[in-house]
Amino acid sequence: MKILIHPDAGAATECAAGLIAARLARDRRTVLGLATGGTMEDLYRRLIRRHHAGECSFAEATSFNLDEYVGLSPTHPCSYWHYMRHHLFDHVDLPAGQAHLPRGNGPDPQAEADRYENAIAAAGDIGLQLLGLGPNGHIGFNEPGSSLSSLTRVKTLARATIEANSRYFDRPEDVPRRAITMGIGTILRAQEVVLLAVGPRKAEVAARMIEGPVTAFCPASVLQFHRNCTVVLDAEAASELALRSYYEDIHPSGS
Ligand code: PGA
Repeated sequence: MKILIHPDAGAATECAAGLIAARLARDRRTVLGLATGGTMEDLYRRLIRRHHAGECSFAEATSFNLDEYVGLSPTHPCSYWHYMRHHLFDHVDLPAGQAHLPRGNGPDPQAEADRYENAIAAAGDIGLQLLGLGPNGHIGFNEPGSSLSSLTRVKTLARATIEANSRYFDRPEDVPRRAITMGIGTILRAQEVVLLAVGPRKAEVAARMIEGPVTAFCPASVLQFHRNCTVVLDAEAASELALRSYYEDIHPSGS
């Protein structure tokens, strides 16, 4: 794992946006794995800014999002389809037919999960996978206890995730209890992974992910097995790392 520690959330997020823009510049046809969540809102703002400045184009790229809630239609305001249109797709040149998310409101969610897994494989798997980090160690909606070689499937959300995501819904009971998520095995097939985590809420889990044992109890810890994984943190999220000064010696100021 390459650990890049930046002084603040803005610098860390700009760094992660820069890694995506650099990948697109190297390979305009990159298959991007995209994430949702509060952390990514600022990252997408920064990517849109770069796009408007002529620094990156999505015209030949393809994207697959990590997950979608079971039961929500693509137009539901709390769906990740809606999130992606609002925070990225409506503002960049990614052609509509090249952006993919699982469909949450189909008749057979597991059949949809299988179709999605096959579509990712048919696209040649993910080139660059962007990840956030759940406070409980989840990546995508792979909650603690997930098989470390799982494929795209239906997962029941952990209570901690339902609580964390209830801020987007009118009432906590409106948060769907299940989601279709790329599996951990799907994520591990990506050529390159960029995980962004900022703020004090992520400090304890970032330390477990990077320095703890590899365990399904903290699904993100499996990234220790990935050959090309960059973890971008701000100082707050890095505050509980035992080897922080070592990572900073290798990459001063996240360089
Ligand atoms: P957050 O979500 O960016 O809203 O903290 C991260 C996650 O749960 O993956």
